[in-house]
Amino acid sequence: MVEGYMSTETIAVYPGSFDPVTRGHLEIIERARDLFDVLHVAVVANPSKECLFSSEERLDLLRTETAALGGRGRLEFTAFEGLTVQLADKLGARWIVRGLRSGADLASELPMALTNRDCAEGELDTVFLPAGPASSYISSSLVREIAAAGGRLDTLVTGGVEEALRKKSPS
Ligand code: COA
Repeated sequence: MVEGYMSTETIAVYPGSFDPVTRGHLEIIERARDLFDVLHVAVVANPSKECLFSSEERLDLLRTETAALGGRGRLEFTAFEGLTVQLADKLGARWIVRGLRSGADLASELPMALTNRDCAEGELDTVFLPAGPASSYISSSLVREIAAAGGRLDTLVTGGVEEALRKKSPS
């Protein structure tokens, strides 16, 4: 954070791969922006994942597909390579937002949340939002698999994302 600068705004970051953004992610973004003055949606490089879309493409899809969303807080978009805790510090964010679809998500998210809190000496907490029933089974890898085989995508992703997927894997 910029030294000596204390924002009075509540600032959060929602990090993820977003490869591509799904209706599930959009639901979390819409709900999370009601909780904070600023929500930074961050495409964070995950070295263990090989991505279909470039960071720029993922950011562009996030920008266009969130344009019609409701909610109170301001949305900002960024791409980042490094630790989420470093990104939060850079953005002045005190909260990380993550969606939970199941107990399995909680089991993998909890150690990350506690480690991030520890690394930030208690100055960074994670807010978990339970995915709604219509999103609890969606994942980006399933979406990519269905797109590659020419399957139906409209319940999983928005029209803009479907179009981008079809261009990547015309069938
Ligand atoms: N709706 C739909 N899908 C959802 C979802 C929701 N509400 N919540 C999660 N998912 C899915 C995603 O589609 C994705 O599916 P996929 O694995 O099939 O592609 C999966 O859940 C998880 O993806 P995502 O939320 O994008 O997270 P990630 O695991 O790729 O990355 C980071 C999570 C960015 C937070 C993590 O990798 C990170 O912190 N990286 C920085 C490095 C770091 O700080 N490491 C130390 C951590 S303590």
